[in-house]
Order: sequence, then C-alpha cells, then structure tokens
Amino acid sequence: MSLDNTIKEIKASFQSDLSKSNTTTELENIRITYLGRKGKLTTLFEEFTKLPVSEKPKYGKTLNVLKTELTIAFNEKLNELNPSSDNSNDSSEDFSLPGYNLPQGSLHPLEQVTSEIKSIFQSIGFSVAYGPEIDDDYHNFEALNVPKHHPARDMQDTFFVDPNTVLRTHTSNVQIHLMENQDPPLRHICCGRVFRNEAVSYKSFCLFNQVEGLVINETSSFAEMKGTLEYFVKEMFGKGTKMRFRPSYFPFTEPSAEVDIWNDKLNQWMEILGCGMVNPNVLSNVGYDNTKYQGFAFGMGIERIAMIKYGIKDIRLFYQNDKRFLEQF
Ligand code: DAH
Repeated sequence: MSLDNTIKEIKASFQSDLSKSNTTTELENIRITYLGRKGKLTTLFEEFTKLPVSEKPKYGKTLNVLKTELTIAFNEKLNELNPSSDNSNDSSEDFSLPGYNLPQGSLHPLEQVTSEIKSIFQSIGFSVAYGPEIDDDYHNFEALNVPKHHPARDMQDTFFVDPNTVLRTHTSNVQIHLMENQDPPLRHICCGRVFRNEAVSYKSFCLFNQVEGLVINETSSFAEMKGTLEYFVKEMFGKGTKMRFRPSYFPFTEPSAEVDIWNDKLNQWMEILGCGMVNPNVLSNVGYDNTKYQGFAFGMGIERIAMIKYGIKDIRLFYQNDKRFLEQF
C-alpha cells in the first residue's frame, strides 16, 4: 500500500475514533494509538526514513502537516471534554512567581518638548493646525513674499522634488494654507518637520522640527506679539529668564525681530526664534484685505529649544535612537 493511502486511512480512522470518544479515558487511548511513542504516526515517520531521497521532501512536509492537524484536533476535543485541562503537558509553571517586569518606554525628548510647547500656546487660546511636508514652491516661498531669485532663498537650502515641488524648508507654508482656507480671526500654531539641504554637523541636520505661530485679526499689534512670546519664554524656560527682542529681517514679516534668551551657564545670549508683523503683501496674496486685517507670526526650531532647555550639545543625538541618550528623558 502506498504511503499516500496509509496517510489517508490514518487520518480518516483518527477522525472517526475522535468523534466517537466521549470520555477522557477513551481520548487517552486515541492519543496512545495515534500520537504516542509507539503510535501510528511514529510508525509512519519510521517508514518515511526508508523512502528514496527524491521523495523525502514531499512526504516530510505531508507528515508534519498531518502531525500538526491531529494534535490540534486532539487538543480541541480534550478541551471540549475537560475544559479545565492543561494540555501543555508542562507542570513546571509556578503561578506564585512575580510577573515579568516589562520595561516601560518613554516619549522621545522632541515629542515631550513639542507637547509642552503646544500646551503653553493652547493655554492662551491657540489651536493646533497641520500642513503638508511636501509642498509647491508657491506655498513655501512665493506666497510668503519670497519670489524666485530672492536672496532670502539662500538662507534655506532646499530639497527639490521637482522644479516646482519642495520638501518644505519651514512650517511657514502652513500660514498660507490656513489663510487660504479660513477667514480671520486666526490664532494657530503648527508643529512639524522641515527639511534643509545643509551639511550635517553638531548644530545642523537635514531634517528638524519647527513650531509656527500665526495670529490674524483687526487689532493685533507688535506689543501683543511681544507679550505672547514673553509668556511663552517664561513658561518654557522659567519665570526669571532674561530675554530680548532684536531687529531682524524676514520677507514675510515687517517689521521683523528675533528673540534671544540669556544662558546663564554659557554666559551668552542665544537666539531662539524669529517673529514679526505679517507683511501686508502676504495678506493680499491670500486674498485678505490688508487695510482691515493685520497680525503677527513667529517660528522656532524645536530641537534648538530642547537643546537649550536640556543642555544637549549635538542635534544629531535626536535622530540616532541611542537608548543611552533617550533613557535620560
Ligand atoms: N520661517 C523662518 C525660518 O524658518 C522662521 C520664522 C521667522 C517664522 C519669522 C515666522 C516669522 O513666522 O514671522 O527661519
């Protein structure tokens, strides 16, 4: 009789025996007959060893499948007859032992700082917005008053996807999307990744995160912007933090400023963000009436904030997934 037929027969008789059995004693007999050390399956495996080499792969697989099928069917039946049975055959479990202590992960330091920044601004009425990381030249530059060939483009070395599509170089593109889609008043922040084609070093990376803020209404002022950013700085770095506004230039704001905070340890001013009153050209680019509406905007690098706050000296650490670094937060 061929091995194929033997396999079929064993399977059929096993199934019929199993369906007829009603007690655990009967089941135990089935186990011994088919799955036991001297059972039919063992005999089959012995016959298998005598097969010519060419047939071994095929039957090896068939026999293993058969063994698994019979074992599963047997255990199911056993559970049916005796639901409390532990059919693992393993009596070495000690249920009084304490459980495994699974290590607990933590949020990435950038994620922690980002949520801290979000909650500071949310507490003074800002909503959180999102925008695309891949955008067209118009939203990343042109609508922000940075025309082609404008020297300000040099400040942001750009990754181009095609001549008209860029990996956004800053989150300021979200300002444009927000204003295109909503009428004033606006009071939003947006956190997200930005990309710059810069030489990687301890102080710059090809990818980093920014927070952008935008407030548009009929009354907002430079003084309100100063108050807002002062509130942010004191919440983030502590009430006693010394800060200063320094005149600066951005094409999308007029007038523009940068904010520095005093670093006691390094004994020096450190720049943390750029800001200004939204340039009237930007407002008219999105179809707002720039004689009626005005507002302010600001942008900062989240890595930079985290580096100053925690005294981190190398921006690349945020992207290396080194547990020795991450576990400190
Ligand atoms: N987009 C600027 C940058 O990436 C930062 C910035 C400065 C954003 C001034 C603003 C702003 O919204 O008003 O360097």
